[in-house]
Amino acid sequence: MKRLQDKAAIVTGGGGGICSAICETFAREGASVVVADFDLGLAEAVANRIREQGGRAMACRVDVGDKDSAYGLIDTCVQEFGSVDILVNGAGISVNELFIDTSIEDWERVQRVNLTGAFLCGQAAARKMIKRRSGRIINIVSLSGQRGGFGRSAYGSSKAGLEILTKIMAVELSHYGINVNAVAPGPIDTPMTKIVHDEATRQSYYNLTPMRRYGTPEEIADAMVFLASDESQYVQGHTLNVDGGFGAAGLIYELKPKTMDDSPDPASTAG
Ligand SMILES: NC(=O)c1ccc[n+]([C@@H]2O[C@H](COP(=O)([O-])OP(=O)(O)OC[C@H]3O[C@@H](n4cnc5c(N)ncnc54)[C@H](O)[C@@H]3O)[C@@H](O)[C@H]2O)c1
Repeated sequence: MKRLQDKAAIVTGGGGGICSAICETFAREGASVVVADFDLGLAEAVANRIREQGGRAMACRVDVGDKDSAYGLIDTCVQEFGSVDILVNGAGISVNELFIDTSIEDWERVQRVNLTGAFLCGQAAARKMIKRRSGRIINIVSLSGQRGGFGRSAYGSSKAGLEILTKIMAVELSHYGINVNAVAPGPIDTPMTKIVHDEATRQSYYNLTPMRRYGTPEEIADAMVFLASDESQYVQGHTLNVDGGFGAAGLIYELKPKTMDDSPDPASTAG
């Protein structure tokens, strides 16, 4: 049995690096997917790929920071697929500027997409979900909203805001059978990080991440399926870090255990 069979899902930012993988994974798990993005060409390419693989998907252009556009997206999903069971708020933009240099224009542009966008889409979706007494909303937050990283004043503040909004939505919507959770990805190779992560940022992530690598969009998509499925019924208001151990880590350095020697593991040489 597929884990999202007969569910209708909307993924904003669905044309992007992480969210295109979420769309494709949701479709493989049986969901009908609205691939929603500001860039319709990107969204159409993802929806086409899903249909070529036998899944159900449609592309939709949305500006999540615009109220009419956000509410229109939710209506489109209901018209096309009969309901909205799952909403992933994944549309996001980033700037990498020191607090002292950040312009009011950049500050407002980032809040509008990352925080206001999730607020508007979440509210529009919740108003439909309340009537059916069920639904899942998953917000994509960030390590930059949990730690005070250099250059992340606008972006980190927007994601910290979204993390507390996740908790407030969960508390208020529990009564209606709606689960609201968040996923905080670690560094993931996507079009966004190719622009925003310079060499110093990359090196910094390698040094601070116990798993010593960037994650993949598919690893984020797997966590999303869990939070969108019935397997996570009692998970509410939670932020799931999928970050290679970044959030757990303190000091990291190489120290070989005294109990280890260099001889090969007998199990690996048996037979
Ligand atoms: N890549 C990472 O390392 C990382 C880490 C933590 C969190 N995130 C978050 O994950 C999400 C996806 O990031 P990504 O790296 O895949 O980025 P991406 O740039 O590849 O994708 C983001 C998508 O959002 C769309 N978008 C931008 N503004 C929009 C708007 N107003 N309305 C609708 N769509 C809009 C873009 O067109 C793009 O397709 C973002 O919320 C990002 O903040 C990413």
